[in-house]
Amino acid sequence: MSNIIDVHISLDQQYQIAIGEQLAQSFKAYCEARYNRNKIFVLIDENVNRLHNNKVAKLVSDFKDVHLIEIPEGESSKSAREWNNITNKILEIGIERSTPLLAIGGGVTGDLAGFVAATVLRGVPLIHMPTTLLAMVDSSIGGKTGINHTTGKNLIGSFYQPDAVFSDITFLETLEQKEWITGMAEILKYAAIRNSELFEVMEELIHQPLTPKQRWVEVVEESARIKVDIVQEDALEAGNRAYLNFGHTFGHALEKVSGYGEITHGEAVFVGMIAACHFSQELGHPVSDARFAPFLSLYKKQMSPLTTDTEELLEAMKSDKKVKDNTIRLVLLNEWGSPYLYSCEDHSMLQKSWSYTLDKFNT
Ligand SMILES: NC(=O)c1ccc[n+]([C@@H]2O[C@H](COP(=O)([O-])OP(=O)(O)OC[C@H]3O[C@@H](n4cnc5c(N)ncnc54)[C@H](O)[C@@H]3O)[C@@H](O)[C@H]2O)c1
Repeated sequence: MSNIIDVHISLDQQYQIAIGEQLAQSFKAYCEARYNRNKIFVLIDENVNRLHNNKVAKLVSDFKDVHLIEIPEGESSKSAREWNNITNKILEIGIERSTPLLAIGGGVTGDLAGFVAATVLRGVPLIHMPTTLLAMVDSSIGGKTGINHTTGKNLIGSFYQPDAVFSDITFLETLEQKEWITGMAEILKYAAIRNSELFEVMEELIHQPLTPKQRWVEVVEESARIKVDIVQEDALEAGNRAYLNFGHTFGHALEKVSGYGEITHGEAVFVGMIAACHFSQELGHPVSDARFAPFLSLYKKQMSPLTTDTEELLEAMKSDKKVKDNTIRLVLLNEWGSPYLYSCEDHSMLQKSWSYTLDKFNT
C-alpha cells in the first residue's frame, strides 16, 4: 500500500510520488507497465548498497540486464569528475533513450544521478528512490539536478523531472541520527511556511524516529505535498519557490563561517529558522520562535558550540552571490504559514537576530 501524490509541472511533465512501506511490488508493477525491462542502470549510494543490497536486488529482479553503479558517499561525489566517471561507464556499457536510470540514495545521489539522466543522450527516463528523510521530503521533489563546482555548490545542473518517485520509508530504518535531524529541519520549515499543525505532529514524533511507521508516512507525505504545491506554482524558481529558502539565508552564512562539514545543512537551517523568526518578530509579526523550543535540545545535543562572531556571519551573508547593492533578501513570516520576501538594508537588525539566536545555542 502506498500513498500517491500527483505532480503536474506542465502538460507533458506529470508524474506520481508513491510514499509508503515496502514499495517493491508497486515499483515492479510500475516498471512492468512503463518499460520493456531489457536493461536498467541503478545508481546507488555506497552505504545504501551495503545496508540494503538484498532489497535492491529484489526490486530490479524483473529486468534482464541490471547495471549497478555505486556512488561514493558524501557531497564530494556531486562533482564533474564523478559525473564523468558514471557517464563513461554507462556509455561504454550501452544505453538507449528508453533505458531507465534508477537513483537510490540521499540528495547527493539524487542530484548527481538526476544530472546524469538529464545529460546522457540528452535525457533518459529517471526514477528517484530517495533513502534519506531529506531526500524524501525535499531533494527528490522539484526536478533540480546538478553538481558542485570549485567556486560554489550546485552551480552546474538542470531542471529535469523524473518519471516517478518511490519513497519507501523502510530505507530510513538504517539512517543515522544526524541525518534524521537534517531531514526534520526541512519538515519544520514546511510547518513554518505552510502548515503549522506539523509542529505538533513533529513534537510527538521527534524522539522516536519511524515509530509508528504509518505516522511517519503521513508526515513525509504532507511535507512532500507542500513542496509539490510550491514547485507546481513555480517550477523554474522565478518567484514563490524562494519561500522554500526560509531559514536558509541565515543557515548558509552559518555553514560558511563554521566550515562545511562542521555543521550539517539541516542544523544550520534549524538555527537559521530561529533567526528568521526573531527577525520577523522584530518587524512586529506574531511568530514567536517558542514554536521551535521543543526541538532545541535535540539539535543542541548534536551540535558543537556555535560561533559568536556576528560580524563574520553578517559578512558571510553579504558575500552571497544573490546579494545586490548590499541588500540581503530574506524569507520572513507575516504569520505562521504566510511567508514573504523582505529586502534587508538595515544590517544591524541582522546582527541583533544573530546574537539572540546564538545565545540560545551557546547557553
Ligand atoms: N535537488 C534539490 O532540490 C535539493 C534540495 C535539498 C538538498 N539537495 C542536496 O541534497 C544533498 C544532501 O542530501 P542528503 O542530506 O540526503 O545527503 P546524502 O545524500 O549525502 O546522504 C547523507 C548520508 O546518509 C547516508 N545514507 C543515505 N541513505 C541512507 C540510509 N537509508 N541508511 C543509512 N545511511 C544512508 C549516505 O551514505 C550519506 O552518508 C546536498 O547535496 C544538497 O545540495 C538538493
